[in-house]
Amino acid sequence: MKAFIFDLDGVICSTDELHYLAWKALADREGIPFDRVMGNRMRGVSRMACLEIMLEKANHSYTEEEKKEMADFKNSHYVALLDKLTEKDLSEEVRSTLQALRKMGYRIAIGSSSKNTPIILRKLGIYDWFDAVVDGNMITHSKPHPEVFLKAAKLLCLPPEECFVVEDAVAGIDAAKAGGFVSIGISDASRYEKADYKIHTFSDLLNIVK
Ligand code: BG6
Ligand code: MG
Repeated sequence: MKAFIFDLDGVICSTDELHYLAWKALADREGIPFDRVMGNRMRGVSRMACLEIMLEKANHSYTEEEKKEMADFKNSHYVALLDKLTEKDLSEEVRSTLQALRKMGYRIAIGSSSKNTPIILRKLGIYDWFDAVVDGNMITHSKPHPEVFLKAAKLLCLPPEECFVVEDAVAGIDAAKAGGFVSIGISDASRYEKADYKIHTFSDLLNIVK
């Protein structure tokens, strides 16, 4: 194995919680029931696909224009929450584990469905740490399609089977499997039977490669 491709939200940082809060704000505005189970299904999937998950519980249908307004509302709310993000929001555990993996010679990349990836990596002060960053602005198909990880592997000049993918999303593990990567599930995805490895905390990655 030569590289690690990391998902961002819910793996490198806790922005998964900010996504949840922003969707909750929209659900409350619209009077649509929304809970953690729905929030977990939104992990890894595109903004519009998340909206469709939320609208499963709506009691009337929405026009495409209304859907666009809702997605924009959620994103504005989310971006406002990101404003408070600083380098302190990168945990010491993630920082030291990434540094250790780099020291061991592993190449590292980001493969995220989020269009806000560049903002987050810059706010955390780690944009330059990665050999490749592929995000929601660069793909046509969101996870569980493997496109985001295949693009990252291509930028790393490595075949998928030489790259680990680290994911908190069931959709992300499915994407990794579909692309021929070795998958590592953390958080919500640590309970997913299809993950090749399941870890409880980020530094457990070091046990996989030792
Ligand atoms: C993923 C999140 O990383 O990015 C999803 O897990 C989110 O919940 C997706 O919908 C798209 O994010 P954004 O920032 O482009 O709306
Ligand atoms: Mg995630």
